[in-house]
Amino acid sequence: MSKRSATTRERAFRNLVRGPKSGTLRPWRNSATARLRGNKMALQSNSRPRQTYGFEEIAARAARMAEVLETVKEAALRPDSKKVAPRLNQAQVANVLGITKSAFLHGVDSKKYPSGHALPGKTMYDMADMQGMARAAGLRHQYAPGHGIVMTVANFKGGVAKTSTTVTLAQYLAQRGLSCAILDMDPQASATTLFGLSPYLDVTSDESVAALFYNDPPDPVTLARPTYWPGIDIIPSNQHLYGKEFALAAAAPEWGGQIFEVLAERIEPLRRRYDVLLIDTQPSLGFLTSTAVFAADHLVVTVPPSNLDLASSVIFWSLLRDVMEQALKADGHAKRWEGVHVLLTRVDDTDKSTHFIRKLLLMGCEDWLLPDAIPATRVATTAASEFATVYDIERYEGSYRSIKRARELFDKAYGQFTHILNDTWDAWEANASSQAAVSAPVADLSETDASVEHSNVAAA
Ligand SMILES: Nc1ncnc2c1ncn2[C@@H]1O[C@H](COP(=O)(O)OP(=O)(O)OP(=O)(O)O)[C@@H](O)[C@H]1O
Ligand SMILES: [Mg+2]
Repeated sequence: MSKRSATTRERAFRNLVRGPKSGTLRPWRNSATARLRGNKMALQSNSRPRQTYGFEEIAARAARMAEVLETVKEAALRPDSKKVAPRLNQAQVANVLGITKSAFLHGVDSKKYPSGHALPGKTMYDMADMQGMARAAGLRHQYAPGHGIVMTVANFKGGVAKTSTTVTLAQYLAQRGLSCAILDMDPQASATTLFGLSPYLDVTSDESVAALFYNDPPDPVTLARPTYWPGIDIIPSNQHLYGKEFALAAAAPEWGGQIFEVLAERIEPLRRRYDVLLIDTQPSLGFLTSTAVFAADHLVVTVPPSNLDLASSVIFWSLLRDVMEQALKADGHAKRWEGVHVLLTRVDDTDKSTHFIRKLLLMGCEDWLLPDAIPATRVATTAASEFATVYDIERYEGSYRSIKRARELFDKAYGQFTHILNDTWDAWEANASSQAAVSAPVADLSETDASVEHSNVAAA
């Protein structure tokens, strides 16, 4: 974190506590002080005044907390409140390309790679430069364009790094030249916020993912907006999405099992525009999350290695079974995924229980459990306090080695997803060519039949 942003943040926090010059937040302090005084007097008189809370208090608190969040966010971002994608040094670029730094420098000399931006003592590359090099190096599967893969990150449990995984996986893939779209299917709008958007100020219902659940939905491509990170677009969320849970429940009797397919059908055009669609979900398995789970080609369940998280992921599997049974009964729809993956997140290898939980998961999930896990790291928590991720930060208060180590482990875990995606594109490509091969002989056969008929007619 730079000194400048720390100062800005400190100033913002001071404003929060003392009230800014405009005084918009001052009544908070005044009322809090008044309440404290009131409580003191109440204590003195030994009778506690009864206070009750209703709609007005909740509405006022909601507005105030939105203001608090905006202030914190403004302070965490640059002075112009804009997030920027990090630049990469030559070693980082070489790492993304999967080559040694000396091989990369050789490529720069021979003009195979661009020369980057010369800064005092170092050469840096913009994210767009990186993506250009990644595509030129063929890191993107040749079948990817026009055949987007949908990955949904889900778990019944809250706080198990669903959003962190969705966002960092998109950042990992985008660095490697893949075009990604994130669908924020959580009314909490954490992914939207991580991309520097205010769910309250920057997103209307019509512009949000909620619009996909309208009777007459817009083209989803028009909802996807570019983010500060080249190669990642987002369909943002806000609290309006919450109402769609009830709307779907009300529509369910009329729609039958089709209700689970509504998102899958409506995001279809996005597959032609993006290589990967990543869906972040809320911590529940209601109708909204179910539509996201049914829209997926790959389902990713994030599980931190704790007994409680393991227990709630067990509930997730049995709830998912119930939802699938419901869909099957309603219209015989049997959902199948290209892959189901359990990703261990926030893993502390020094913790003995980690190994125990890993063993339990292996017993229950076997081949679904991805061998490489996401580590628990202070770099991630520090970054999160600035509305950022391990891939966002260029500088860190701790040692640079900590970021490097954290990124190496994240890269290793996400490298598994590159294989998963490429295997799926391989399978789809092979399937498409075998279908093409099947339809070709049909044409030949009809020609043969026709010629037999003709010859018969001629013989007659
Ligand atoms: N690898 C990590 N190391 C340390 N902290 C992490 C890591 N990944 C996520 N966290 C922290 O864990 C908390 C929960 O993460 P996150 O918001 O991604 O979970 P979630 O499953 O999306 O939560 P919710 O269910 O509320 O949507 C956040 O404070 C985040 O910064
Ligand atoms: Mg989340």
